Amino acid sequence: MKIAMVGSGYVGLVSGACFADFGHDVVCIDKDQSKIDLLHDGVMPIYEPGLDALVESNVKSGSLTFTTDLAEGIKDAQAIFIAVGTPSRRGDGHADLTFVYQVAREVGEHLANDAVIVTKSTVPVGTGDEVERILADSGTTHQFSVVSNPEFLREGAAIRDFKRPDRIVIGAEDEFGRNIMREVYRPLFLNESPILFVNRRSSELIKYAANAFLATKITFINEMADLCEQVGADVQDVSRGIGMDNRIGPKFLHAGPGYGGSCFPKDTLALLKTAEDYESPIRIVEAVVKVNESRKRAMGRKVLEALGGADTARGKKVALLGLTFKPNTDDMRDSPAIAIAQTLHDAGVEIAAYDPEGMEQAKPLMPDVTMCSNPYDAIEGANVVAIVTEWDTFRALDLNRMKELAQDPVLVDLRNIYQPSDVRSAGFTYVSIGRD
Ligand code: UDX
Repeated sequence: MKIAMVGSGYVGLVSGACFADFGHDVVCIDKDQSKIDLLHDGVMPIYEPGLDALVESNVKSGSLTFTTDLAEGIKDAQAIFIAVGTPSRRGDGHADLTFVYQVAREVGEHLANDAVIVTKSTVPVGTGDEVERILADSGTTHQFSVVSNPEFLREGAAIRDFKRPDRIVIGAEDEFGRNIMREVYRPLFLNESPILFVNRRSSELIKYAANAFLATKITFINEMADLCEQVGADVQDVSRGIGMDNRIGPKFLHAGPGYGGSCFPKDTLALLKTAEDYESPIRIVEAVVKVNESRKRAMGRKVLEALGGADTARGKKVALLGLTFKPNTDDMRDSPAIAIAQTLHDAGVEIAAYDPEGMEQAKPLMPDVTMCSNPYDAIEGANVVAIVTEWDTFRALDLNRMKELAQDPVLVDLRNIYQPSDVRSAGFTYVSIGRD
């Protein structure tokens, strides 16, 4: 089957490459000539483990191509995916649907055969209805159906998530749409990945509900961690203890500095906007958004405390290890590291940082931070070393070398990746999240 993927960003590129790998004939389309040029040269515009090899092999076999020409790209495609960005609209948190509607108009204008138009971008409830209206208004004589098919890919694990999904959600209003989507996902269906057919509005809401629920789970354990610190409990034991209950489940119960990234912050805000528009408030998500936002600066204050307090922090030095919102990505969007660095900088602290992939993206966001070429350069002369992102490379730091290089042996581990006894027996003062 020929598939067109409009938008070759994170979601479009990963989905396009995986569909090609399943044997479909895929064209990835993007307006950005420089991005398409990079892809033609085999250079990935984003960092995602395994993506370059997947793209390379499918380009070689001829099943994956790239173009800036939408009319040419969608010709003969039975499924046309819209995978463009839906950033938070400035000022009100609504999802900005400009790009989605623009693509819908262009598709309507150039549609040359019957096709299913699939929104993969995360879009608020009712967007599919508007896309359908735009296509109908275009005067196309071809049969079309507008389907919602949200993605649940995690950065850093996107290819595995695409190929082995917990479920595939398809929101379709007619048999034409359902049949083509069955064909699109047949290789996964044979893998026994469950496909859930629902109506389009339910499908649109499932994506937001899933992300809001996960953000709530994280925020719940983060607040529980704060309580653990007050009452002398250990949040990791609490996580294990509740996670073993099948109704709760063990995942997304790691306490840390707060969630960030391209999805949770944006999608929780957009969900709240929808709830407000329909006068059906979701107060629990309102609280989650507030708690998570204030947590990021609170983590900065936690580091200040380890320095001896804000009053005496001026001129002291902190080494930040990890800047991205999570490991295995170069994505800095809404990373807690930004607020932490800002809080430290406001108190007059000098900051040196190291991140395996994120420093290029981090530089413009934290201009006062000195970027180092390895963790030990950042640690040299530091009064506090703070682990912000749990990259594997920080899991086995040479504690003796750290102790020699640092001014003071103080480790703040915001991801709980060390055993307190190991670090303390190496002579460090050790501060972590939700435990002694
Ligand atoms: C998320 C969803 O998981 C994915 O399904 C959706 O399509 C996009 O948003 P992603 O943003 O890539 O994916 O990262 P994820 O692994 O979910 O982590 C999000 C944030 O939550 C990170 O900042 C991470 O550090 C934090 N997190 C996650 C925790 O603090 N604790 C946890 O237990 C899990």
